[in-house]
Amino acid sequence: IPVQPFDLVLFGATGDLARRKILPGLYHRFTVGQMPPEARIIGSARSKMDAAGFREKVRAALEEFTPAADRNEEQVDGFLDRLDYVSVDASGKGGWKELAAALRPDVVRAFYLSVSPSLFSGIAARLHDSGLATADSRIVVEKPFGHDLNSAQELNAGLRANFEEHQIYRIDHYLGKETVQNLMALRFANSLFEPLWNATHIDHVQITVAETIGVDGRGAYYDGSGAMRDMIQNHLVQLLCLTAMESPSKFTPNAVRDEKVKVIQALDPVEPSDIVRGQYRADDGGDGYCDHVGNPDSRTESFVAMKVHVSNWRWAGTPFYLRTGKKLRARESEIAVVFRDPPHTIFPNVGRLRGNVLVIRLQPDEGITLRTTIKDPGPGGLRLTEVSLDMSFAEALGADSRPQDAYERLVMDVIRGDQTLFMRGDEVEAAWAWVDPVIQSWADSGDRPAKYDAGSSGPEDALMLMHRDGRRWREIGG
Ligand code: BG6
Repeated sequence: IPVQPFDLVLFGATGDLARRKILPGLYHRFTVGQMPPEARIIGSARSKMDAAGFREKVRAALEEFTPAADRNEEQVDGFLDRLDYVSVDASGKGGWKELAAALRPDVVRAFYLSVSPSLFSGIAARLHDSGLATADSRIVVEKPFGHDLNSAQELNAGLRANFEEHQIYRIDHYLGKETVQNLMALRFANSLFEPLWNATHIDHVQITVAETIGVDGRGAYYDGSGAMRDMIQNHLVQLLCLTAMESPSKFTPNAVRDEKVKVIQALDPVEPSDIVRGQYRADDGGDGYCDHVGNPDSRTESFVAMKVHVSNWRWAGTPFYLRTGKKLRARESEIAVVFRDPPHTIFPNVGRLRGNVLVIRLQPDEGITLRTTIKDPGPGGLRLTEVSLDMSFAEALGADSRPQDAYERLVMDVIRGDQTLFMRGDEVEAAWAWVDPVIQSWADSGDRPAKYDAGSSGPEDALMLMHRDGRRWREIGG
């Protein structure tokens, strides 16, 4: 779908996310010719500066956050020419008239709120009241979308008082990741997998999002949040939904999102014994979680592992194990679909035959792997060995296919008016309704998260969560 001419107003244009992700993403779309000549990006923040000053800031951000190989002076200058800047007081009166004057009629208008959620409702109201938002304008918001169900409902109400749901784009950047979208292609554009994609054939599913970074520098936000709110409620639930959902009848925003909501609604409440929280210790001579957040008594978790049941016909009896954490052994995200063991073996003395494992690697080195059992080559009778059919997207698709960053894709989808990869209001609320009782039970019990070593795979108890079911986590960094 071609991208129409647009005015994109980026609130929070001098902030971290804008510099790291949004502006570099837009630059990349510009370099591949996906921005029509009439496209403009209007930066907006409280600081006073002119367009030239903003362009220089963006030039510096591109130097810092885009690979040198993707930059050449002509293209950078061409992109910077598209930029303008208007200083706006997001919670006051200043600047709104000037912003109105900078916008053109007859082009798509998108307002990207890369700002604190506490400003969402106020900005939405000002956009509406000052007539800046037309019936076709789009408003884009970032996580955290709420802290719990109540606050998410309030944010939804604040947005919906001024915009229709079809104008609201709630970003979960995991949905913009190439391999996450590939999961839908794998399931619904191939005939091999879907007939087996159910509890009859699948023993369990493991979803892991492991990170090596800690929370240094973001302590103030993170300590009031924790892994459950920061990662599980959004990114991991989204991965779970795409893995578990029924086939939508069409690839349209509401058909896909209807199916995802049904998965969330089918999630059983989590038993306390099915969930393990962890918090990383100091590395050798370094700082631990509590030092990073400046709170020696913090009970916030930097790791969660849990067993989840999707209570419906397709998945009854097949658990989903979710795991995410900071300061783990490797940065590695994947969905592993573990098939049931072959029911019978005809081969003597080969021990247990293990089920196939289909692994969808989200990052790094995006690809798909299928663990299979084959004959061990060579003489000496029939021995079996496990090997992987391994497809790396980079190799399969060639060096020219630079993976798009999630934000690149998502921002362009906003302009195209395609909400498929954005969260609908009811979906966000359903996810909060599911995680809230878990967080509440931790607060009630006063329990502390189990400590784990930085650079490990998380707390011992997380291993036990699987061992007691006769299963094993796939090794992080293995
Ligand atoms: C963010 C979380 O949403 O996702 C961060 O707030 C986390 O804590 C990040 O580090 C992970 O994203 P990615 O794309 O690096 O896997």
